[in-house]
Amino acid sequence: MEIRKESPEDAGVIRQINQVAFGHPEEAQLVDDLREAGALLLSMVACDGEQVVGHIAYSRGWIECEGERIPSVALAPMAVLPDYQSKGVGSILLSTSLYTLREMGEAHVFVLGHTWFYPRFGFVPADQFQIASVYQAGDHFMGQELSSGALEGVEGHFMYHPAFEGV
Ligand SMILES: CC(C)(COP(=O)(O)OP(=O)(O)OC[C@H]1O[C@@H](n2cnc3c(N)ncnc32)[C@H](O)[C@@H]1OP(=O)(O)O)[C@@H](O)C(=O)NCCC(=O)NCCS
Repeated sequence: MEIRKESPEDAGVIRQINQVAFGHPEEAQLVDDLREAGALLLSMVACDGEQVVGHIAYSRGWIECEGERIPSVALAPMAVLPDYQSKGVGSILLSTSLYTLREMGEAHVFVLGHTWFYPRFGFVPADQFQIASVYQAGDHFMGQELSSGALEGVEGHFMYHPAFEGV
């Protein structure tokens, strides 16, 4: 399984993977909207030979803290083709992309997602960091520091890119 950054010709297959994995078009549309807005901070694909079978996207988000906007990162969406799920593809895609984000110098990342999946990769409920989602998501809204102590003294609301408003 090769993990690499998306290239321009991957856009169509990325749309299909999101559509099929989620069973509705909103996440596929979100990726297109983020790309068009130049807001895809990192977009990576998992390939089985020539076939793209998984995708993960990160965009710029912000923590509103005492009137300041602290740059952060939103993970969303991620998807693996149904025939390839539960075979470790999502795990390698997530761990490789988190490593890349760290190399890019990003300090923290947040996700609204499955509590059975993300905690394996270092995510904890975001309220442990005093960071709240604008969505009422409880423990499904999770975060992690990519550099140790990066969220010390930071508290507030996590804001997504405006492209998320349609989701
Ligand atoms: C979530 C998703 C990206 C994970 O990718 P994946 O390739 O299946 O992930 P992996 O195979 O690396 O790991 C999945 C693990 O979760 C487990 N799992 C799968 N569904 C589960 C469920 N409903 N409850 C608990 N555990 C579950 C699998 O058994 C596997 O565990 P194991 O490694 O101990 O066997 C993929 O399932 C997917 O595309 N789902 C549909 C879209 C989606 O929900 N995206 C995420 C939005 S937050």
